[in-house]
Amino acid sequence: MSFPRTLQWQGDAKAGRLTIIEQTKLPSELIYLELSSLDALIDAIKRLAVRGAPAIGVSGAYGCVLALREGLGDAGLERLAEARPTAVNLRWAVERVSAFAKGDASRALEEAKRINAEDVAACESIGKHGATLIKAGMGVHTHCNAGALATSGMGTALAPMYVAHAAGVKFKVFADETRPLLQGARLTAWELAQAGIDVTVIGDDMAAIVLREKKSQLVITGADRIALNGDTANKVGTYSLALAAKTHGAPFYIAAPRSTFDAATKTGADIPIEERNENELRQWNGAQLTAKGAKVFNPAFDVTPADLISGYITEDGILQASQIAKWLR
Ligand code: MRU
Repeated sequence: MSFPRTLQWQGDAKAGRLTIIEQTKLPSELIYLELSSLDALIDAIKRLAVRGAPAIGVSGAYGCVLALREGLGDAGLERLAEARPTAVNLRWAVERVSAFAKGDASRALEEAKRINAEDVAACESIGKHGATLIKAGMGVHTHCNAGALATSGMGTALAPMYVAHAAGVKFKVFADETRPLLQGARLTAWELAQAGIDVTVIGDDMAAIVLREKKSQLVITGADRIALNGDTANKVGTYSLALAAKTHGAPFYIAAPRSTFDAATKTGADIPIEERNENELRQWNGAQLTAKGAKVFNPAFDVTPADLISGYITEDGILQASQIAKWLR
Protein backbone atom coordinates (compact mmCIF):
# COMPACT_ATOMS: atom_id res chain seq x y z
CA MET A 1 0.00 0.00 0.00
CA SER A 2 1.34 3.43 -0.82
CA PHE A 3 -0.12 6.72 0.37
CA PRO A 4 0.58 10.39 -0.14
CA ARG A 5 3.12 11.70 2.38
CA THR A 6 0.95 14.44 3.87
CA LEU A 7 3.55 15.87 6.21
CA GLN A 8 7.14 15.22 7.17
CA TRP A 9 9.63 16.94 9.50
CA GLN A 10 13.10 17.24 8.01
CA GLY A 11 16.22 18.18 9.96
CA ASP A 12 16.91 19.01 13.58
CA ALA A 13 15.10 21.31 16.00
CA LYS A 14 17.36 24.29 15.24
CA ALA A 15 17.12 24.48 11.46
CA GLY A 16 14.53 21.82 10.47
CA ARG A 17 11.24 22.42 8.69
CA LEU A 18 7.85 20.81 8.19
CA THR A 19 7.12 19.81 4.59
CA ILE A 20 3.41 19.42 3.80
CA ILE A 21 1.33 18.70 0.72
CA GLU A 22 -0.40 21.99 -0.26
CA GLN A 23 -3.90 20.46 -0.23
CA THR A 24 -5.70 23.52 -1.59
CA LYS A 25 -4.02 22.79 -4.96
CA LEU A 26 -5.18 19.16 -5.22
CA PRO A 27 -6.19 17.45 -7.42
CA SER A 28 -4.84 19.63 -10.23
CA GLU A 29 -1.34 20.05 -8.77
CA LEU A 30 0.68 18.00 -6.27
CA ILE A 31 2.99 20.54 -4.70
CA TYR A 32 4.75 20.73 -1.36
CA LEU A 33 5.16 23.64 1.04
CA GLU A 34 8.14 24.01 3.35
CA LEU A 35 7.15 25.60 6.64
CA SER A 36 9.94 26.90 8.84
CA SER A 37 8.16 29.54 10.92
CA LEU A 38 5.19 29.42 13.27
CA ASP A 39 3.33 32.07 11.28
CA ALA A 40 3.68 30.06 8.05
CA LEU A 41 2.36 26.94 9.78
CA ILE A 42 -0.63 28.73 11.37
CA ASP A 43 -1.48 30.25 7.99
CA ALA A 44 -1.32 26.77 6.35
CA ILE A 45 -3.60 25.30 9.03
CA LYS A 46 -6.14 28.13 8.73
CA ARG A 47 -6.20 27.96 4.90
CA LEU A 48 -6.60 24.16 5.02
CA ALA A 49 -3.34 23.61 3.15
CA VAL A 50 -2.94 20.98 5.87
CA ARG A 51 -6.23 19.73 7.32
CA GLY A 52 -7.98 16.78 8.91
CA ALA A 53 -7.92 16.43 12.70
CA PRO A 54 -4.96 14.03 13.14
CA ALA A 55 -2.83 15.82 10.50
CA ILE A 56 -3.51 19.14 12.21
CA GLY A 57 -2.56 17.53 15.52
CA VAL A 58 0.77 16.19 14.24
CA SER A 59 1.49 19.50 12.47
CA GLY A 60 0.69 21.32 15.71
CA ALA A 61 3.14 19.07 17.55
CA TYR A 62 5.91 20.06 15.11
CA GLY A 63 4.67 23.65 15.32
CA CYS A 64 5.71 23.67 18.99
CA VAL A 65 9.31 23.19 17.81
CA LEU A 66 8.96 26.28 15.60
CA ALA A 67 7.31 28.32 18.36
CA LEU A 68 9.95 27.44 20.93
CA ARG A 69 12.95 28.02 18.66
CA GLU A 70 11.49 31.42 17.71
CA GLY A 71 11.18 32.25 21.43
CA LEU A 72 7.43 32.83 21.10
CA GLY A 73 6.59 31.24 24.46
CA ASP A 74 3.09 30.53 25.75
CA ALA A 75 1.46 33.21 23.56
CA GLY A 76 2.82 31.54 20.40
CA LEU A 77 1.72 28.09 21.58
CA GLU A 78 -1.77 29.40 22.36
CA ARG A 79 -2.04 31.01 18.93
CA LEU A 80 -1.17 27.65 17.41
CA ALA A 81 -3.60 25.68 19.61
CA GLU A 82 -6.52 27.90 18.64
CA ALA A 83 -5.82 28.03 14.87
CA ARG A 84 -8.73 25.59 14.36
CA PRO A 85 -11.06 25.22 17.32
CA THR A 86 -13.15 22.09 16.61
CA ALA A 87 -10.43 19.49 15.95
CA VAL A 88 -9.36 18.64 19.50
CA ASN A 89 -6.21 16.89 18.24
CA LEU A 90 -4.55 20.28 17.72
CA ARG A 91 -4.86 21.56 21.30
CA TRP A 92 -4.19 18.06 22.66
CA ALA A 93 -0.90 17.82 20.72
CA VAL A 94 0.25 21.35 21.58
CA GLU A 95 -0.44 20.79 25.28
CA ARG A 96 1.25 17.40 25.30
CA VAL A 97 4.38 18.63 23.52
CA SER A 98 4.72 21.83 25.53
CA ALA A 99 4.32 19.94 28.83
CA PHE A 100 7.12 17.57 27.81
CA ALA A 101 9.38 20.19 26.20
CA LYS A 102 9.51 22.63 29.13
CA GLY A 103 10.59 25.38 26.74
CA ASP A 104 13.25 23.30 24.94
CA ALA A 105 12.82 22.96 21.14
CA SER A 106 14.87 19.71 20.93
CA ARG A 107 12.68 18.06 23.56
CA ALA A 108 9.63 19.35 21.65
CA LEU A 109 10.91 17.63 18.50
CA GLU A 110 11.41 14.37 20.40
CA GLU A 111 7.78 14.39 21.62
CA ALA A 112 6.39 15.55 18.25
CA LYS A 113 8.10 12.57 16.57
CA ARG A 114 6.48 10.28 19.14
CA ILE A 115 3.03 11.74 18.40
CA ASN A 116 3.73 11.31 14.67
CA ALA A 117 4.69 7.64 15.11
CA GLU A 118 1.64 6.99 17.32
CA ASP A 119 -0.62 8.51 14.66
CA VAL A 120 0.83 6.25 11.95
CA ALA A 121 0.34 3.18 14.19
CA ALA A 122 -3.21 4.20 15.22
CA CYS A 123 -4.23 4.56 11.56
CA GLU A 124 -2.93 1.06 10.79
CA SER A 125 -4.85 -0.47 13.70
CA ILE A 126 -8.02 1.44 12.77
CA GLY A 127 -7.59 0.05 9.26
CA LYS A 128 -7.35 -3.55 10.51
CA HIS A 129 -10.34 -3.27 12.85
CA GLY A 130 -12.51 -1.39 10.37
CA ALA A 131 -11.72 -3.71 7.45
CA THR A 132 -13.75 -6.45 9.16
CA LEU A 133 -16.89 -4.39 8.34
CA ILE A 134 -16.24 -4.27 4.59
CA LYS A 135 -17.64 -7.25 2.68
CA ALA A 136 -17.22 -8.17 -0.98
CA GLY A 137 -19.67 -6.39 -3.27
CA MET A 138 -20.47 -3.65 -0.76
CA GLY A 139 -20.84 0.07 -1.38
CA VAL A 140 -19.05 2.02 1.33
CA HIS A 141 -20.05 5.65 1.83
CA THR A 142 -17.85 8.42 3.23
CA HIS A 143 -17.97 12.18 3.73
CA CYS A 144 -15.19 14.79 3.52
CA ASN A 145 -11.64 13.39 3.59
CA ALA A 146 -10.49 11.21 6.46
CA GLY A 147 -7.77 9.49 4.49
CA ALA A 148 -3.99 9.63 4.31
CA LEU A 149 -4.29 13.33 3.47
CA ALA A 150 -6.01 13.93 6.82
CA THR A 151 -3.41 12.13 8.95
CA SER A 152 0.30 11.35 8.97
CA GLY A 153 -0.48 7.70 8.19
CA MET A 154 -3.04 5.81 6.07
CA GLY A 155 -6.04 7.74 7.37
CA THR A 156 -8.93 6.89 9.67
CA ALA A 157 -12.21 6.40 7.74
CA LEU A 158 -10.32 5.41 4.58
CA ALA A 159 -7.84 3.10 6.39
CA PRO A 160 -10.31 0.15 6.50
CA MET A 161 -10.84 0.65 2.75
CA TYR A 162 -7.09 0.51 2.07
CA VAL A 163 -6.73 -2.64 4.21
CA ALA A 164 -9.75 -4.37 2.61
CA HIS A 165 -8.50 -3.43 -0.88
CA ALA A 166 -5.02 -4.80 -0.11
CA ALA A 167 -6.66 -8.05 1.03
CA GLY A 168 -8.36 -8.35 -2.38
CA VAL A 169 -11.92 -7.50 -1.27
CA LYS A 170 -13.86 -5.93 -4.15
CA PHE A 171 -16.08 -3.02 -3.08
CA LYS A 172 -17.09 0.46 -4.26
CA VAL A 173 -16.73 3.74 -2.43
CA PHE A 174 -19.24 6.61 -2.65
CA ALA A 175 -17.57 9.90 -1.71
CA ASP A 176 -19.79 12.90 -0.93
CA GLU A 177 -18.27 15.91 -2.70
CA THR A 178 -18.45 17.88 0.61
CA ARG A 179 -19.50 21.45 -0.01
CA PRO A 180 -18.17 24.09 0.22
CA LEU A 181 -14.46 23.17 -0.07
CA LEU A 182 -14.92 19.81 -1.81
CA GLN A 183 -12.63 17.68 0.32
CA GLY A 184 -14.54 14.61 -0.91
CA ALA A 185 -14.46 15.43 -4.63
CA ARG A 186 -10.90 16.79 -4.61
CA LEU A 187 -9.07 14.80 -1.91
CA THR A 188 -10.86 11.52 -1.12
CA ALA A 189 -11.48 10.82 -4.79
CA TRP A 190 -7.84 11.67 -5.61
CA GLU A 191 -6.23 9.46 -3.02
CA LEU A 192 -8.57 6.49 -3.54
CA ALA A 193 -8.22 6.66 -7.32
CA GLN A 194 -4.41 6.79 -6.93
CA ALA A 195 -4.64 3.60 -4.86
CA GLY A 196 -6.77 1.89 -7.51
CA ILE A 197 -9.94 1.83 -5.36
CA ASP A 198 -13.28 2.14 -7.21
CA VAL A 199 -14.60 5.56 -6.16
CA THR A 200 -17.71 7.47 -7.27
CA VAL A 201 -18.21 11.12 -6.33
CA ILE A 202 -21.76 12.28 -5.59
CA GLY A 203 -23.21 15.64 -4.57
CA ASP A 204 -23.91 15.80 -0.82
CA ASP A 205 -27.61 16.07 -1.62
CA MET A 206 -27.53 12.72 -3.47
CA ALA A 207 -26.45 10.68 -0.45
CA ALA A 208 -29.99 9.79 0.65
CA ILE A 209 -30.85 8.38 -2.79
CA VAL A 210 -27.65 6.33 -2.92
CA LEU A 211 -28.45 4.87 0.51
CA ARG A 212 -32.13 4.28 -0.32
CA GLU A 213 -31.21 2.45 -3.51
CA LYS A 214 -28.74 0.32 -1.48
CA LYS A 215 -25.85 1.40 -3.70
CA SER A 216 -24.07 2.03 -0.40
CA GLN A 217 -24.81 -0.15 2.62
CA LEU A 218 -22.19 1.01 5.13
CA VAL A 219 -21.03 4.51 6.12
CA ILE A 220 -17.63 5.33 7.65
CA THR A 221 -16.55 8.90 8.36
CA GLY A 222 -13.84 10.50 10.46
CA ALA A 223 -14.25 12.90 13.39
CA ASP A 224 -12.85 16.16 14.67
CA ARG A 225 -13.95 15.70 18.27
CA ILE A 226 -15.86 12.97 20.08
CA ALA A 227 -17.52 13.84 23.38
CA LEU A 228 -17.63 11.50 26.39
CA ASN A 229 -21.18 10.44 25.51
CA GLY A 230 -20.21 9.63 21.90
CA ASP A 231 -21.70 12.72 20.22
CA THR A 232 -19.34 13.45 17.32
CA ALA A 233 -18.32 16.62 15.50
CA ASN A 234 -17.22 16.07 11.91
CA LYS A 235 -17.37 17.98 8.62
CA VAL A 236 -20.73 19.66 8.08
CA GLY A 237 -23.05 17.25 6.27
CA THR A 238 -22.08 14.26 8.42
CA TYR A 239 -25.22 14.67 10.54
CA SER A 240 -27.56 14.57 7.53
CA LEU A 241 -25.67 11.55 6.19
CA ALA A 242 -26.16 9.78 9.55
CA LEU A 243 -29.90 10.57 9.49
CA ALA A 244 -30.20 9.18 5.96
CA ALA A 245 -28.19 6.08 6.93
CA LYS A 246 -30.49 5.44 9.90
CA THR A 247 -33.62 5.83 7.73
CA HIS A 248 -32.29 3.40 5.14
CA GLY A 249 -30.82 0.83 7.56
CA ALA A 250 -27.12 1.37 6.81
CA PRO A 251 -24.74 1.07 9.78
CA PHE A 252 -22.93 4.36 10.44
CA TYR A 253 -19.42 4.20 11.91
CA ILE A 254 -16.98 6.86 13.06
CA ALA A 255 -13.27 6.02 12.67
CA ALA A 256 -10.93 7.99 14.92
CA PRO A 257 -7.85 7.62 17.11
CA ARG A 258 -7.85 8.20 20.86
CA SER A 259 -6.49 11.73 20.34
CA THR A 260 -9.85 12.74 18.79
CA PHE A 261 -11.82 11.67 21.89
CA ASP A 262 -12.14 14.48 24.41
CA ALA A 263 -12.77 13.42 28.00
CA ALA A 264 -13.21 17.09 28.94
CA THR A 265 -16.21 17.47 26.61
CA LYS A 266 -19.30 15.82 28.09
CA THR A 267 -21.73 16.06 25.15
CA GLY A 268 -21.87 17.43 21.62
CA ALA A 269 -23.47 20.63 22.94
CA ASP A 270 -20.07 21.53 24.48
CA ILE A 271 -18.12 21.19 21.21
CA PRO A 272 -17.06 24.55 19.71
CA ILE A 273 -18.06 24.69 16.03
CA GLU A 274 -15.75 26.64 13.73
CA GLU A 275 -17.54 29.14 11.47
CA ARG A 276 -15.53 29.98 8.38
CA ASN A 277 -15.36 32.90 5.98
CA GLU A 278 -18.58 33.54 4.05
CA ASN A 279 -16.64 33.72 0.79
CA GLU A 280 -16.11 29.95 0.92
CA LEU A 281 -19.81 29.66 0.05
CA ARG A 282 -20.18 32.85 -1.94
CA GLN A 283 -17.37 32.20 -4.42
CA TRP A 284 -15.52 29.47 -6.27
CA ASN A 285 -12.14 30.32 -7.80
CA GLY A 286 -13.09 33.99 -7.64
CA ALA A 287 -16.45 33.52 -9.48
CA GLN A 288 -19.56 34.69 -7.61
CA LEU A 289 -22.01 31.84 -6.80
CA THR A 290 -24.59 33.44 -4.51
CA ALA A 291 -26.98 36.29 -5.26
CA LYS A 292 -25.97 39.74 -4.08
CA GLY A 293 -27.74 40.71 -0.85
CA ALA A 294 -28.16 37.09 0.36
CA LYS A 295 -26.72 36.28 3.77
CA VAL A 296 -24.49 33.26 4.23
CA PHE A 297 -24.10 30.80 7.13
CA ASN A 298 -20.94 28.69 6.95
CA PRO A 299 -20.36 26.32 9.89
CA ALA A 300 -17.46 23.98 9.07
CA PHE A 301 -18.71 21.10 11.23
CA ASP A 302 -21.87 19.60 12.66
CA VAL A 303 -22.54 17.24 15.54
CA THR A 304 -23.98 13.77 15.00
CA PRO A 305 -25.72 12.49 18.13
CA ALA A 306 -24.41 9.21 19.55
CA ASP A 307 -27.72 7.41 19.00
CA LEU A 308 -27.17 7.60 15.22
CA ILE A 309 -23.69 6.03 15.49
CA SER A 310 -23.33 2.23 15.25
CA GLY A 311 -19.78 2.19 16.63
CA TYR A 312 -16.39 3.92 16.88
CA ILE A 313 -13.50 2.27 15.03
CA THR A 314 -10.45 3.01 17.18
CA GLU A 315 -6.90 1.67 17.42
CA ASP A 316 -8.12 -0.59 20.25
CA GLY A 317 -11.10 -2.07 18.41
CA ILE A 318 -14.69 -1.11 17.64
CA LEU A 319 -16.35 0.53 20.64
CA GLN A 320 -19.91 1.44 21.56
CA ALA A 321 -20.73 4.92 22.94
CA SER A 322 -21.33 3.40 26.37
CA GLN A 323 -17.72 2.10 26.48
CA ILE A 324 -15.98 5.42 25.70
CA ALA A 325 -15.73 6.87 29.22
CA LYS A 326 -14.16 3.69 30.66
CA TRP A 327 -11.77 3.34 27.69
CA LEU A 328 -10.51 6.90 28.14
CA ARG A 329 -9.74 6.45 31.85
O1 MRU B 1 -12.13 21.11 7.49
P1 MRU B 1 -11.34 19.84 7.36
O2 MRU B 1 -11.03 19.47 5.96
O3 MRU B 1 -10.14 19.85 8.27
O4 MRU B 1 -12.34 18.74 7.94
C1 MRU B 1 -11.87 17.43 8.05
C2 MRU B 1 -12.87 16.48 8.56
O5 MRU B 1 -13.99 16.82 8.87
C3 MRU B 1 -12.41 15.06 8.75
O6 MRU B 1 -13.45 14.16 8.55
C4 MRU B 1 -11.90 14.89 10.19
O7 MRU B 1 -10.98 15.90 10.51
C5 MRU B 1 -11.27 13.58 10.39
S1 MRU B 1 -9.76 13.41 9.54
C6 MRU B 1 -9.13 11.88 9.82
